[in-house]
Amino acid sequence: EETLRDLADQRGVFMGTALASHRLGEAQYAETASAEFNSVTHENDLKWEAVQPQRGQYSWAGADRVVDFAEANGQDVHGHTLVWHSQLPSWVSGGGFTADELLAVMDDHISTTMGRYAGRIDTWDVVNEPIGDDARFRDSVFHRTLGEDFVAESLRMARAADPAAELYINDYSIDGVNAKSDAYYDLVVDLLDQGVPLDGIGFQSHLIVGQVPASMRQNIERFTDLGLKVRITELDIRMNVPASQADLERQADDYREVVTTCLEVDGCTGVTVWGVTDAYSWVPDHFDGQGAALPIDESYQPKPAYWAVHEAL
Ligand code: XIL
Repeated sequence: EETLRDLADQRGVFMGTALASHRLGEAQYAETASAEFNSVTHENDLKWEAVQPQRGQYSWAGADRVVDFAEANGQDVHGHTLVWHSQLPSWVSGGGFTADELLAVMDDHISTTMGRYAGRIDTWDVVNEPIGDDARFRDSVFHRTLGEDFVAESLRMARAADPAAELYINDYSIDGVNAKSDAYYDLVVDLLDQGVPLDGIGFQSHLIVGQVPASMRQNIERFTDLGLKVRITELDIRMNVPASQADLERQADDYREVVTTCLEVDGCTGVTVWGVTDAYSWVPDHFDGQGAALPIDESYQPKPAYWAVHEAL
């Protein structure tokens, strides 16, 4: 039987997963990750708090471990993430920096991190979640100190740090046409008008079973029509647990729909699922009473969703 990775390779798309460095010593985890996926994203190890927990003190062990694993297995790495309000150390969020100081801190973080992996990580979520659920810029030290320009500044710094890398903005709840994705549309039109370097937009796609937006295809297309790439960066589809067979079947239909929709649009380059196995998914820890969100279950067995993705590829 062909794996998801085999099928994605044949189609020339990526099928990715999120990896945690501290799990790579588990044989089943590592074997499943390398067999089924041709792309990986660090689930946490490349975030600011992991990479630069204190000013000027960089810590690369976890991030390197994932990149080394990917290279050993011939996988691409998607860089996640550089400028984000969350998992940001307090020396940045509460640092009391002036605008010039914060720009210098950002430039150091971006150029050091992207520079370390230049030629090894070719695509980056430069800015993560700059817009809130109210479709307005989210409060953060970056927005408070620099205003809306922090997005453009981050992207310019990223282009300078690694001119060959593809640069993305990434967020959740922007999968369909809605107020938040409209705000992104306006933002990226504005950035492109200003000549800001931006190559694509990432749809996290943390979805709820039965709720794939009907306008997802139209929404992807309006961004690709601007010349941007779209990638599905963190797909999972959660449900109440214990999971019913009916929900697992609905979830399979939902996975099929997301993967098919992306692959039907030129410029939608692939899909990453946010974890290897339900056993280690972030969902139960962050959404009360929910789980079973990935295509592979807690025992590394393929779920109906796995076979739906298999068919869609
Ligand atoms: C999540 C990780 O999966 C968890 O392990 C961590 O505790 C919190 O972050 N949007 C993102 C990801 O961009 O970085 C988040 O990952 C999930 C939501």
